[in-house]
Amino acid sequence: MTTIEDIDKEKLPRHLAIIMDGNGRWAKERGKLRVFGHENGVKTVRSTVENCVKLGLEYLTLYTFSTENWNRPKLEVDTLMRLLVSSLRKELKTFNKNNVRLNTIGNIASLPQKAQKELEETILKTQKNTGLTLTLALSYGSREELTNAMKQIAIKVKNNIISPENIDETIINTHLYTQNLPDVDLLIRTSGEHRISNFLLWQIAYAELYFIDVFWPNFNEHHLAEAIKNYQNRERRFGKTSEQLN
Ligand code: IPE
Ligand code: IPE
Ligand code: MG
Repeated sequence: MTTIEDIDKEKLPRHLAIIMDGNGRWAKERGKLRVFGHENGVKTVRSTVENCVKLGLEYLTLYTFSTENWNRPKLEVDTLMRLLVSSLRKELKTFNKNNVRLNTIGNIASLPQKAQKELEETILKTQKNTGLTLTLALSYGSREELTNAMKQIAIKVKNNIISPENIDETIINTHLYTQNLPDVDLLIRTSGEHRISNFLLWQIAYAELYFIDVFWPNFNEHHLAEAIKNYQNRERRFGKTSEQLN
């Protein structure tokens, strides 16, 4: 079994993003409520963050709650928000011990006040940390992000701040939630689903995709190490030929 220690630290993905999926099915398999799956999913978040710290990763982005997830039953949404608040409270110490800086992407203003306040505080209290940047995607939707970016740019064009000829990838990037993050190198989705579900559409243009048929609460160090090892054996050509790279 591959472990974190087996990984070549010279060829790490700079930015790892994960679609943490399968909490509900994990719980259902055990005859429990979906909420039980989310509670156990939080434990996997904790161990995954720790493993990424051990590895020395620079950026980890976790798809925590999508714009579409608001359409779930109220009880489930409320539980997820409550879990967010209690986890942040519990993890602050560990973040600081592990030099983790918290960051968010998404429509944070749409979250309950309590969650917004807890996020604000945790971000503030970890802002000087220089190790892993942990980004939680909360009320995040890629289409909403791109729509907002287009709106902001259109307003700047209208007000003569930007001229249309100058709109380039850099300008678009600076209008995204992810303006301070590098492109995603490796995207992992758990649970066996093979889809992106409105996550980081622009930012994964050249990411390596890795799908694993394991529910999120069961995702462990070996699965993570295996995914990174698999990534390290791929040739990222970015449109060039293999010969050009060698
Ligand atoms: C992922 O697990 C967690 C969130 C989307 C918040 P799910 O809740 O989607 O679990 P499944 O996919 O229904 O099993
Ligand atoms: C994607 O999972 C969102 C998160 C992991 C937060 P979903 O379970 O919501 O995705 P779909 O609905 O199966 O595509
Ligand atoms: Mg799901």
